Amino acid sequence: MKQWISAQDGLNNIRLVDAPEPERLRDGEVLVRIHCVALNFRDTEVCMGHYNHHKTLDQGAPIVPCSDMCGTIEKLGPGNDDYGLKEGDRVMAIFNQTHLKGQITEKDMSSGLGFPSSGVLAQYRVFPAYGLVKVPDHLADDEAATLPIAAVTAWMAINTFQPIGQPLTGKDKVVLLQGTGGVSISGLQIAKALGLTAIVTSSSDAKLDRARQLGADYTINYKTTPEWQDKVLELTGGKGADVVFETGGAETLAKSFACVAYGGLISSIGYLSGKEDALPGPRINTNVLALRRNVTLKGMLNGPKERFEEMLGLYESKQIHPVVDRAFEFEQAKEALGYLAGGSHFGKVVVEVVQSDL
Ligand SMILES: NC(=O)c1ccc[n+]([C@@H]2O[C@H](COP(=O)([O-])OP(=O)(O)OC[C@H]3O[C@@H](n4cnc5c(N)ncnc54)[C@H](OP(=O)(O)O)[C@@H]3O)[C@@H](O)[C@H]2O)c1
Repeated sequence: MKQWISAQDGLNNIRLVDAPEPERLRDGEVLVRIHCVALNFRDTEVCMGHYNHHKTLDQGAPIVPCSDMCGTIEKLGPGNDDYGLKEGDRVMAIFNQTHLKGQITEKDMSSGLGFPSSGVLAQYRVFPAYGLVKVPDHLADDEAATLPIAAVTAWMAINTFQPIGQPLTGKDKVVLLQGTGGVSISGLQIAKALGLTAIVTSSSDAKLDRARQLGADYTINYKTTPEWQDKVLELTGGKGADVVFETGGAETLAKSFACVAYGGLISSIGYLSGKEDALPGPRINTNVLALRRNVTLKGMLNGPKERFEEMLGLYESKQIHPVVDRAFEFEQAKEALGYLAGGSHFGKVVVEVVQSDL
């Protein structure tokens, strides 16, 4: 079989190599033939050797990149009776393979696919049965592949403090989505399916048009309106956003604190504008920003399998189809990662390992 390998030394240096096809399955293992892989910002960081903010994870070894896939079960090993899986089932892999319930732990972090565990940019991979989730029938392979990181993180960004089975609902609840990448557009689709009010920011008016077509109630161009936090307050009658998708990081966090509602939630997801503050000199500390509007800043690390399955209930009942911006062939994985890193996409970018039958 073929697989891509990265020595974590640059996007242009990833290599397509031959690897032995997995033969003997141990107890609880499942062989999956991979159909589609969806790319995440993290995958570009891993390939460039920049994924270094989790201090507990060792870096540097050659690795099969990427974590999000949809495939079919080719073969079930012994001892798989508890999981309701059979050969031919379409499945997705959960990102941190051992994170099945509740709070993530350091041990779960070491099971993250595509770093530090071997990833899915390959024709076949063996998974533990517990690390797989069945694909809802209405989703095509490329759509399903987009869910494990982007959509589950978006689901948690909105519902982390909600009990399972009781997601946030109501038009009076406002969600602010930064940018139009994979997490934000998944968040927009989820927010609208839950009946929430959605505000989307983007650097591009054309992308904001697309966001409105997906149901965004308000849109703001953060390039032409650099003080977009004031606009969020204006649009919400001074109240602010109940939930903020903080994907920007260095250039956005202080503004998120300025436009979150009293008692609201800033879900700290990413760092697209940088991991380190560029501003020199003294500035208001995060503890003061948090208390000023009585808010919660909650770090997000994807979500457990139980919440992935909860989210799939909404995708099925509302027949949500994730937004696939562009699909690349398996041999073009390098170009696909470069395209994602370029940031011109809207929603998700996928690599088709085999052509879907759907
Ligand atoms: N914590 C977690 O569990 C978790 C899970 C998934 C992702 N993440 C992180 O979350 C971030 C987003 O991931 P993703 O997969 O959605 O990335 P992505 O698809 O690559 O998103 C790229 C988009 O983000 C927007 N963007 C770039 N700079 C921005 C800025 N300064 N302010 C607002 N938006 C900006 C741009 O949208 P426009 O072109 O519309 O401006 C860009 O197209 C990344 O940092 C990623 O590492 C974290």
